[in-house]
Amino acid sequence: MEKTINLTLKVWRQNGPKEKGRFETYQVSNISTDSSFLEMMDILNEQLISENKEPIAFDHDCREGICGMCSLYINGRPHGPDEDITTCQLHMRKFKDGETVTIEPWRAAAFPIIKDLIVDRTAFDTIIAAGGYVSVNTGGIPDANAIPIAKVAADEAMDAASCIGCGACVAACKNSSAMLFVSAKVSQLALLPQGKVEAKRRAKAMVAKMDELGFGGCTNTGACEVECPKNISISNISRLNREFLKARFSD
Ligand code: SF4
Ligand code: FES
Repeated sequence: MEKTINLTLKVWRQNGPKEKGRFETYQVSNISTDSSFLEMMDILNEQLISENKEPIAFDHDCREGICGMCSLYINGRPHGPDEDITTCQLHMRKFKDGETVTIEPWRAAAFPIIKDLIVDRTAFDTIIAAGGYVSVNTGGIPDANAIPIAKVAADEAMDAASCIGCGACVAACKNSSAMLFVSAKVSQLALLPQGKVEAKRRAKAMVAKMDELGFGGCTNTGACEVECPKNISISNISRLNREFLKARFSD
């Protein structure tokens, strides 16, 4: 039988990047526990529009855990109170009737707030543009199939490649470090023969760009791994450190 709940929502509202933000409190009623968190946000926005109030700006695209857009900090946790999921995969059954839910944007200097709950994650794209790609000729599809790759390396590369660039690792980290993200992107290429050719240049360029963009340093708290919706392992950070040192001392 469908169950419904009533909630008090404390939502961060901010008109623009330079404006002062504040929490506003809203009530939502008869929310089905089968609905998703973003559907609940849609209902709240319909309510606000019907009251001639401005709807809350929040990011989303696929609503399937793929695109990494739905960056919400819910009750003090990136992507909310569930494990290994994105905000769009969070369901209202995770909340109790009468609960107060606090909803904030990612908080990090490198992810400035655009409006309300939307932050600018261009910094991640800039890091990728610095070296997170393969630009050498790797041949055609038959060549890729003809190159033997150890199963362990293939599995680890696939795991690293599952990073969706959501930024929860940065939001979870007290230093706003982007090391988990960068390590996943460096690892997925460094583990495969096609990526090894440019591995040194890539590691140095991506780390330099990360530092330049204002992300903090990694102090191994492990908070990033705990909150990552794709279970990216911090063992990738060790690999990034090795790749970086190798590149640095082989010049
Ligand atoms: S490492 Fe995890 S938390 Fe960080 S951007 Fe990738 S998927 Fe998101
Ligand atoms: S909206 Fe695409 S991952 Fe959540």
